[in-house]
Amino acid sequence: MHVLVVGAGIAGLTAALRADALGHDVEVLVKGSLGDGCTPHAQGGIAGQYGPGDSAALHALDTMHAGDGHGDPAAIAALVDGATAALEALVDSGVRFDREPDGSTARGLEAAHSLPRIAHAGGDATGRVISDALVARLRARDVRIREHAFAADLLVEADRVHGIRLLSGTELAADAVLLATGGAGRLYPFTTNPVGTTGDGIAMALRAGAVVADLEFVQFHPTVLADGSGPFLISEAVRGAGAVLRDADRRRFLLDEHPDAELAPRDVVARAVAARALAQGAPVLLDASGLGRDALAHDFPTIDAELRRRGLDWSARPVPVSPAAHYLMGGIVTDVDGRTSLPGLWAVGETARTGVHGANRLASNSLLEGAVFGARAAASLALPSPASPSPFPPPSGRESDGNGVSGARSESAGRTEAGEEGTAPPDGFSRAALQRLMWEKVGLLRDDDGLAEAVETLHSWHPPLPDTAAAQEDANLLAVARAVASAALARTDSLGAHFRLASTLIGAS
Ligand code: SIN
Repeated sequence: MHVLVVGAGIAGLTAALRADALGHDVEVLVKGSLGDGCTPHAQGGIAGQYGPGDSAALHALDTMHAGDGHGDPAAIAALVDGATAALEALVDSGVRFDREPDGSTARGLEAAHSLPRIAHAGGDATGRVISDALVARLRARDVRIREHAFAADLLVEADRVHGIRLLSGTELAADAVLLATGGAGRLYPFTTNPVGTTGDGIAMALRAGAVVADLEFVQFHPTVLADGSGPFLISEAVRGAGAVLRDADRRRFLLDEHPDAELAPRDVVARAVAARALAQGAPVLLDASGLGRDALAHDFPTIDAELRRRGLDWSARPVPVSPAAHYLMGGIVTDVDGRTSLPGLWAVGETARTGVHGANRLASNSLLEGAVFGARAAASLALPSPASPSPFPPPSGRESDGNGVSGARSESAGRTEAGEEGTAPPDGFSRAALQRLMWEKVGLLRDDDGLAEAVETLHSWHPPLPDTAAAQEDANLLAVARAVASAALARTDSLGAHFRLASTLIGAS
């Protein structure tokens, strides 16, 4: 079977390696270079290293609880039941997780986990270590790798996906297409996600008519460095190790917000951080000074080096932090084996909505999801589709109007790669304008009026003619932004990361 894997984070790499091992003819496409997606930026680690008193069942409970009860029990069971095997497979692929002095695998604690169960590597370089190991493994196989190949659209005939059209116009036929293109952090101006995280797979799926869901649930990471030199993630593992958040009066304000204070679920901490920053007119402070200079340098070498590069000594003084867009819980709806609503199309990792994250992802479950469901999807490629009833819920919101890349104007041609500097076409669309609108109206705190305005504005903008990579990304961002905003408007209650205020409250702030 000829399998096209689009994207090469942990989910795509795992799926490609497993499919190759199963004898499929695998081809991997990446928009940039192999190893430059979101996975290498993951710091904290990968959940599932169960110690004494811990179990997959307890991990499942924590996952459901962090997701505000919105998770899919069958998907969560698949996630945690597959954890041990997924971690073992990573070790077999050459990943060396950090160890305790007695030789056992070290286990970190992160927010909303009942017990320390996060395996990590290189201290805070887990994603980089995993990515390097899997990329090396893939390069050693007889797998065709196409770098700088931008998958623009799915080829669909008679309701079946049978390949990919590249931005260059080249069409690649396949028996199965597996999308592993990551999330859409670049919908927002302040994000932990690298350039290129533009929702490409979700936009392609929207245009092809695949079912998507839960797009209203956008996770904002609470502790992203806000020193004015660009966002930089400071891992939740730092709070897990004992760092605390303080307001301008040096008070641990989270003690008033939640019994677990800094280790409350991520959405709770992010909202409290944002509210306190708004009230005091300045970012809150992450105080890691109690951990000590040596421990910070040893346990968090990546963060330590970056902070020092920016002239910040976090062992001596607290550093300013702010929430930033981090993760999309929703995506292309799949069953527990990565199958989407379109025959011939699979989705894994952040691109997919498996249902494991509910309304708010539990820390360090994203690498685990990629590893577990990447392998499951590969194993299911050659299996017959399950008989009805369909596992696919109806789409939430007005997502499926995200197409329209043809017939649009070409004002975006010649933009910079990131697109932020582009000249706005007459209807007001630019990537910067979209990001500003999403931040202000479809961000951490939302209200009826703001969401309605965002939906209207997003639908008044024309997607650029996708004649360059930047323009294709812009078109994809607009398609996904419309879907996210529409889903957020349609969900009138607050749930997990989707938090709605009364309009007057936002107005007053
Ligand atoms: C972090 O290290 O705080 C991020 C980990 C995650 O997103 O799960």
